Amino acid sequence: MNILVTGGAGYIGSHACVALLEAGHDVVIADNLSNSRRETIDKIREITKKDIIFYEIDVKDTNKVEQLFNNHNFDGIIHFAGFKAVGESVNKPLEYYYNNIVSTIVLSKACIKYKVNKFIFSSSATVYGDNEVPFVETMDLMPATNPYGQTKAMSEKILMDAAKAHPDFSVSILRYFNPVGAHESGLIGEFPKGIPNNLMPYITQVAKGKLNKLQVFGNDYPTIDGTGVRDYIHVMDLAEGHLVALEKLRPGVHVYNLGTGQGTSVLQLLNTFMEVNDIDIAYEIVARRPGDIPISYADVSKAKKELAWTAKRGLKEMVRDAWNFEKNL
Ligand SMILES: NC(=O)c1ccc[n+]([C@@H]2O[C@H](COP(=O)([O-])OP(=O)(O)OC[C@H]3O[C@@H](n4cnc5c(N)ncnc54)[C@H](O)[C@@H]3O)[C@@H](O)[C@H]2O)c1
Repeated sequence: MNILVTGGAGYIGSHACVALLEAGHDVVIADNLSNSRRETIDKIREITKKDIIFYEIDVKDTNKVEQLFNNHNFDGIIHFAGFKAVGESVNKPLEYYYNNIVSTIVLSKACIKYKVNKFIFSSSATVYGDNEVPFVETMDLMPATNPYGQTKAMSEKILMDAAKAHPDFSVSILRYFNPVGAHESGLIGEFPKGIPNNLMPYITQVAKGKLNKLQVFGNDYPTIDGTGVRDYIHVMDLAEGHLVALEKLRPGVHVYNLGTGQGTSVLQLLNTFMEVNDIDIAYEIVARRPGDIPISYADVSKAKKELAWTAKRGLKEMVRDAWNFEKNL
């Protein structure tokens, strides 16, 4: 298939491009590099020894998106492009709503106009809010009280309504849990601009000496050791989840959790990192961070049953590959 990957220069998108290319698909990337680097495109070429076409465009720009659809015959699209920092979304709500919602509308309109009938969307476990764990796809959504979570819940709804009105337009909504790690080559990985918002790049940057110490937000949650519990998933497992979701997409709208189904606390992740990589990480416990929920992990039975997909890589590979990427930067 010939696949348009928006946000393909970013963290998850770049790994998905590797998985697509290695499975024999062709890839066109559209990314405005607002949170990524041009070099990543070359690294994808280096890993796969395949060519990719890259457009540095903003996918909110209807004219540029139409040009793209005129230039290529796409079989499907994976829409990763978007802003993703929860905290930042509270301070910049309009930027978040504008970027994440308008991009989804512009791209789905183009798909319907040009009869590109496969649409894979990057959603997030944040849409479950503080439902009971494990989170199941059939739960009512309770997006956290932050604009980022709202943009994901709204984009899901927009795509569902579009698919209802256009029965040929098939959509797979993938709700990611906590992607970490990097491609085993160490050539691509999570490379945030500025201070990392996520735990793993924070840990790797402390390990590298770029940051002084890790702050652990709260140790009084009702969890195994009081620190927050998340469902960490290796980014290559997540990337492969996109491949199967695309290849097995049936008519209609389908929602899948992509996680491991296992909860891991902040301290468990940190200790695994220190043990596997033989590095000490300085950390301090600070107050809870507003908006954080105590526990999040997935019920992964639907993806297993319908897509025959399960995450294969464990915590040790996640911490090893994350450090392997950071130390080579
Ligand atoms: N990383 C996570 O923890 C996580 C969890 C759940 C969901 N997601 C979602 O997955 C997707 C990818 O996340 P990521 O971690 O790879 O983020 P990322 O920031 O590394 O990648 C997003 C990419 O989209 C590009 N982009 C943003 N707005 C654009 C626009 N208007 N036009 C063109 N390009 C644009 C950025 O330059 C970047 O390369 C996002 O939609 C994010 O919300 C991420």
